[in-house]
Amino acid sequence: ATPETAGEPGDGIRRRDFIDIAAVSAAGVGGLAVLYPLISQMAPSKDVLAASTTEVDVSAIQPGQAIKAVFRKQPLFVRRLTPAEVQAANATPVGALRDPQTLAERTEEGHEDMLVTMGVCTHLGCVPLGAAEGEVKGEFGGYFCPCHGSHYDTAGRIRKGPAPTNLEVPEYTFTSDTTIQVG
Ligand code: FES
Repeated sequence: ATPETAGEPGDGIRRRDFIDIAAVSAAGVGGLAVLYPLISQMAPSKDVLAASTTEVDVSAIQPGQAIKAVFRKQPLFVRRLTPAEVQAANATPVGALRDPQTLAERTEEGHEDMLVTMGVCTHLGCVPLGAAEGEVKGEFGGYFCPCHGSHYDTAGRIRKGPAPTNLEVPEYTFTSDTTIQVG
């Protein structure tokens, strides 16, 4: 046979490749089909996670100190403000804020010094610094996000940098003078 009549060897190779690839793909899909129920049984379902609550004992948090907890798999900051921080937060002209909210709107009535926020920067989700350490940094105090420099005040309100909104305050209630339930 001449090369011209050898019978399209290229087609044959392509076909074999296709069959091999199809076999691998089928195995991949089959493997996933077997694994998926196992994986989905191990992870809590979205509904269970969305309904979960977190209890935090706040009795040991001194003014100016904070603790980090976890709420629905994300960091949660619970901070007891000093009287000076409460005063400073209340003295801030709310109209000048990017996301105008008073301290009272961000805290429970009668517990204005206890700030409960998600520890998740509203820009791209990094964890801001300054809460668990009880440190007050920079001109606004509060929280500093190391990723792109957003700065939140002691009430967790955005003051500077790219974050569009204040640190989120999740739903929570005081179930006793020393315990809060988040969620
Ligand atoms: Fe915090 Fe960008 S993620 S400033």
